Amino acid sequence: MFRKVVLEGNQILRTECPALPVDKVKEVLETTASESRFTLDQFLLDMYQTMIAERGIGLAANQIGFKLRIFILKNKTTTGYDEYINPEVLSEEELTTFENEGCLSIPGTNAKTQRFRKLKLRWQDRHGTTLEGDFENMDAFAVQHEMDHLNGKLYIDQLSPVKRNMVLKKHKKFLRQRGE
Ligand code: CO
Repeated sequence: MFRKVVLEGNQILRTECPALPVDKVKEVLETTASESRFTLDQFLLDMYQTMIAERGIGLAANQIGFKLRIFILKNKTTTGYDEYINPEVLSEEELTTFENEGCLSIPGTNAKTQRFRKLKLRWQDRHGTTLEGDFENMDAFAVQHEMDHLNGKLYIDQLSPVKRNMVLKKHKKFLRQRGE
């Protein structure tokens, strides 16, 4: 099910999402979602469908209103995505420039940011299995962007006040044109 993406200015995007054991995540979903028997599989599918509908390459749980330490990234497999539950960055290397970072919560604009070109991540999948992997270039940038979301941060936080205002102005104009 498609869910509305929370926009910049909403407090949940400024909330640090706590790590919880996968069993506990399932309990939280069952008790906080309006649907009865809301499963982790369904939640992840909702995240995926929302990301695709919005033409994103990644999405964090708080972007659809859930304070859970989970993000997804689009991939080229048949399922179309991977889930990252309780992700932790283990190491980062080679600070570089990412030319046009954007965010589904700040549609209509983007900016140049500083990101690491390589990183090592540890996370869990929906079965509670712990996994580790290396990410490079766009994949590494996407992981850092989603990790920021889970820590209550946005890419605009690293911009100068002048640049940040320009980016937010463009975003607000985009929303007005979209009729919001
Ligand atoms: Co984002």
